Amino acid sequence: MKVGIIGAGYWGINLVRNFYQLKVLKAVADVDTNVLSKVKDTFPGVEVTTDPDVIFDDPEINGVVIATPARLHFELSYKALRKGKDVMVEKPLALSVKEGEQLVAFAEKNNRIIMVGHLMLYHDGIRRLKDMIKAGELGDIYYFYSQRVNLGKIRSDEDALWSFGPHDVSIALYLFDEVPQKVSAVGAAYLQPGIRDVIFMTLYFAGNLMGHIHLSWLDPHKIRKLTIVGSKKMVVFDDMERFEKLKIYDKGVEVRPPTTYEEGSMAIRVGDIHIPKIDLREPLRNECMAFIKAMETRDPPVTAGEHGLQVLRVLAAGTESLNHEGAPVTI
Ligand SMILES: NC(=O)c1ccc[n+]([C@@H]2O[C@H](COP(=O)([O-])OP(=O)(O)OC[C@H]3O[C@@H](n4cnc5c(N)ncnc54)[C@H](O)[C@@H]3O)[C@@H](O)[C@H]2O)c1
Repeated sequence: MKVGIIGAGYWGINLVRNFYQLKVLKAVADVDTNVLSKVKDTFPGVEVTTDPDVIFDDPEINGVVIATPARLHFELSYKALRKGKDVMVEKPLALSVKEGEQLVAFAEKNNRIIMVGHLMLYHDGIRRLKDMIKAGELGDIYYFYSQRVNLGKIRSDEDALWSFGPHDVSIALYLFDEVPQKVSAVGAAYLQPGIRDVIFMTLYFAGNLMGHIHLSWLDPHKIRKLTIVGSKKMVVFDDMERFEKLKIYDKGVEVRPPTTYEEGSMAIRVGDIHIPKIDLREPLRNECMAFIKAMETRDPPVTAGEHGLQVLRVLAAGTESLNHEGAPVTI
């Protein structure tokens, strides 16, 4: 297996490091020659070029990894697929559902892997959370809320919904195994006309499950936190914690018929807080290994194109709601 990477900027350089360490990196393309000098100096033996076509046309390269600005994801992914390569593209898969559908359909028809860099699904803490939910440890899931806020990195190809939102939306789809039926979002642009810096989005799933996502690159705090409230237990996933990423609260409210006239029908239970020991590996390393495995086995990874497409559908519905002052939009 050999991999070529297009785009080695702020995030792409981490992909370069991981694929280099996994001993499958052949070449890196970036239009910025300063970036290429850094790659050449740090990762000896890796070919560098300013022309992505060199990667597309290299018969030894099976997989193309794309970490350019989001506006180029569709064009470069499509070109790589047409050249017969498997593709791992950074999130979001594309900047419209139509483009995403085109990529997924083309990959499927031509038996190519298309995988989206929804990093959080390769996080061992999120994987543990998924196992807990699947095993029914939390009981019925009532609701969740997440915050992904900090100061910078301010983008202009996409707003905070399309830049940060893919993480939280992909986590929700993965954990609860369903797509929300409708979303409602409000947000505002302060720094650049038309590019929203802050978003508050509510997701409504089947049954009574509800979620809220707060996203911003214009915030004094750096927060990466997800709280899930279930009928049996409550969980907080805090990615800013170095080791104690997951805290499981044995807390809840039991609703039962009162046995006496004085007794209330709600009993509050406050039990222990459990912090599981998680064998944490770098999520990006897990992600890169998943791409290599998918290329070898031809089995779709957890963040295959179809998952990326579902994420786009939620984001597109969020944008429509934003454009209509928060009116709920059905997916
Ligand atoms: N998974 C994550 O947690 C995560 C985190 C940050 C960024 N990202 C994603 O990574 C992607 C890149 O973001 P970034 O912050 O690294 O941006 P960046 O601007 O720092 O890097 C992009 C790189 O692409 C290069 N480039 C631009 N056009 C090119 C072209 N036509 N051919 C070759 N190279 C080209 C640029 O020179 C630059 O080096 C975005 O899609 C972003 O959403 C993902």
